[in-house]
Amino acid sequence: MIKIAPSILASDFSNLNTEINQVVKGGADLIHLDIMDGVFVPNITFGPEVIKCLPKFEGIEYDAHLMIAQPENNIQSFLDLNLDRIAIHVESTIHIHRLLRVIRDHGTKPAVCLNPSTSLTTIEWILEEVDMVVIMTVNPGFGGQSFIESGLRKIEALKEMIIKQSLNVEIEVDGGVNAATVSRLTNAGMDIAVAGSAIFKSNDYAKAILALKQPE
Ligand code: DX5
Ligand code: ZN
Repeated sequence: MIKIAPSILASDFSNLNTEINQVVKGGADLIHLDIMDGVFVPNITFGPEVIKCLPKFEGIEYDAHLMIAQPENNIQSFLDLNLDRIAIHVESTIHIHRLLRVIRDHGTKPAVCLNPSTSLTTIEWILEEVDMVVIMTVNPGFGGQSFIESGLRKIEALKEMIIKQSLNVEIEVDGGVNAATVSRLTNAGMDIAVAGSAIFKSNDYAKAILALKQPE
């Protein structure tokens, strides 16, 4: 069964603690944190000082998605939070290999993330360095956008690359994942579904999570 990573970007920020408690109770496997700097993407969200205040749960992973320019300049403040996973955009840094190693050496699972227009060939030589690849199926910056269809072929091709190299790398899909798109994504090879609006804009989080895990 796929894992579900609710993105708190679509949650009620004035009630963050309760919102996170509710998705955890509702069956979330990871909590997805969208960190945006207004430079790499045209939006600003939150950073380490807010993340420090979030509740922790046994067995629930914190999954940080860094949408910041030159993440190497700020990586230490994210490492200090002892998150479970940190995803770096391949487009955001020249020395992605070095940065992934820094994350691994700290004991955090390194992940690499690709914009919709970025080719899989950009990660061919670093696939063995990561625990997860995040395929963006919207242009990063905002929640609630609609899924870009070419993502499906990209997920299939990535799955093939992973099998060919006999690697143990999870595929996370981010953007426009909902009850209508989830089955095709799972069939293509998705292991983890990020879902913001599909969960937090619904009136029953547990039901929304179940609809993603077991679509009709
Ligand atoms: C977009 C973020 C996504 C976003 C997904 O830049 O990376 O994680 O929150 O939101 P939905 O699920 O509403 O497309
Ligand atoms: Zn994200």
